[in-house]
Amino acid sequence: MLPPSHAKNIRIEIQSDLKTERKVEALLAKMTLEEKIGQMTQVRHFDDIQDSDISSKYIGSVIHTEGPIPGHNAAEWQARFTELQEIALSTRLGIPLLFGVDAIHGQNTYPGATIFPHNIGMGAAGNADLVEKAAAITAKEAQATGFNWVFSPCVAIPYNEKWGRVYEAFSESTALTTKLTRASVIGHQGNLSNKGTVMATVKHFIGDGATEYGIEGGETTLTPEQVAERLLPPYEEAVRSGVGSVMTSFNILDGIPMHAHKALITGLLKNTLNFDGIVVSDWKGYSKYGENEIVNAGVDMIMAVDGDLDHFREVLFEGVKSEEVSMDRIDDAVRRILRQKFRLGLFEYPFPDSTLIECIGCDNHREVARQAVRESLVLLKNNASILPLDKKLKRIVVVGEHADSSGLQSGGWTINWQGTTENYLGASSIIDGIREAAYGEVVYDAGGVDLHPDADVAIICVGEKPYAEFFGDVGHEESDCQLTLTEEHKNYIEHYVAQGVPTVVVLLSGRPLVVTEELKKADAFIAAWLPGSEGKGIADVLFGDYNFTGKLPHSWPESESDYEHVYGPNFWQKSPTPLFPIGFGLEYQKS
Ligand code: GLC
Repeated sequence: MLPPSHAKNIRIEIQSDLKTERKVEALLAKMTLEEKIGQMTQVRHFDDIQDSDISSKYIGSVIHTEGPIPGHNAAEWQARFTELQEIALSTRLGIPLLFGVDAIHGQNTYPGATIFPHNIGMGAAGNADLVEKAAAITAKEAQATGFNWVFSPCVAIPYNEKWGRVYEAFSESTALTTKLTRASVIGHQGNLSNKGTVMATVKHFIGDGATEYGIEGGETTLTPEQVAERLLPPYEEAVRSGVGSVMTSFNILDGIPMHAHKALITGLLKNTLNFDGIVVSDWKGYSKYGENEIVNAGVDMIMAVDGDLDHFREVLFEGVKSEEVSMDRIDDAVRRILRQKFRLGLFEYPFPDSTLIECIGCDNHREVARQAVRESLVLLKNNASILPLDKKLKRIVVVGEHADSSGLQSGGWTINWQGTTENYLGASSIIDGIREAAYGEVVYDAGGVDLHPDADVAIICVGEKPYAEFFGDVGHEESDCQLTLTEEHKNYIEHYVAQGVPTVVVLLSGRPLVVTEELKKADAFIAAWLPGSEGKGIADVLFGDYNFTGKLPHSWPESESDYEHVYGPNFWQKSPTPLFPIGFGLEYQKS
């Protein structure tokens, strides 16, 4: 893992160099139209293809998403992708495959990988070096499981916290997001040809988190000036940092689906910002947003999944023959794809490095993730300095299902697309850490109904169930998410306050929630976001081994009426006044 300073220096080397460009042009000149269209095609390693399609259709990229896992251990995952790579290398020109995965807070599709706090927690930590280290670790564990491309980081500027993907982004602050975007891209990519690094993807271009009412794939109605001032800087910084890929977004901007927005994709991103990497569509973007229109808009690689594969290949082939799509456009797309494959060193080293397997979930990686958990925590209230807790307390009651479930503390995109509610391999829960740190009795009241009036303190863990994408949109027909705690979780707090037990509330959520009443009742209140696999990091701070350093990456709403505005209670609106401003966070007073 390169130290941050070194990684920054070598970024220059991955900029376009003449040697690479000559190789790209020489290879491009040999390619048939069918081979070129094949390179623009990304498929899943199951459902969409027979293995033989990799060669017969000259496929350019394979992705792993929700579905059959490639094997039971990292060696089998590597073997599966090596099998497909060998088929690709057997073609006339032997162009290697890119293997992509949504490793957005660690290699979160692989059981046993190190899982970091989701980006909202990294935003609360605000530590660029830590983001860079986390990205470098994610890259290594992604390579160890056979991938050379991750669809991360999401660099959205979330406006309305009704959006189900707030937690995938760092902050509603453009400046903070821009700073952490740079760190994430450099951490993932380092010296791209190093076997422990991967191509990063900034997403979703542009306006994903700025739709009215936070609707995933909805309408972004910001002015061009607001887009330029508030949403574009992270992309500018990513391009400056040498990012290899940009993913287009589902939302609509200027009345145009972003996948088909030529002015922004080709005009702004490619021509004005000089982005020379791959623009990749999002899921089924081809059939959703106008087919060849998105290719003409500047999309270079098509996520041809869910039945899009042969339709895409046939309709694009016909489009080129009819000159609806120019050969120059095809060549631009393929040039960008080949360029990244050369930069990644895939022509020399197309196969994953088996020596990386031992680093998956190793102690060093987990210690960095545990540090990230500690630094992500934001202290919102600490009445009578009830915190830090004394390790010698006679009886601590820990309350709620979120206290003993690494799945619930990790949120969506963990093991499964929609996350898991169970404990998963290699992870530690919040109560694991409390039990390890406390010298006295630790009692677990999962359902928040037991009677412990003599307890010294009740640590009450409440929050959201895991969700991803539109399943997290508050108000979506397929979402049961809400802006407040559930009645059950409110009752956990009430039950212990009624017993006269001092209460410390730990909130596990992918976004700020309306908890104004619960804040009044609790003696201490911590925003813990979605900490990932290292739940023990929370006890490190609860018992004072470390101080709080986290600061709110979002303004915090006071009431549900704050969400009446199309863009919700974010700090851009100035009114309504948030309960806590962005940047708020208490610390232990030095005794
Ligand atoms: C999803 C998401 C995107 C993800 C892609 C591949 O729909 O919008 O963030 O990278 O599909 O899973």
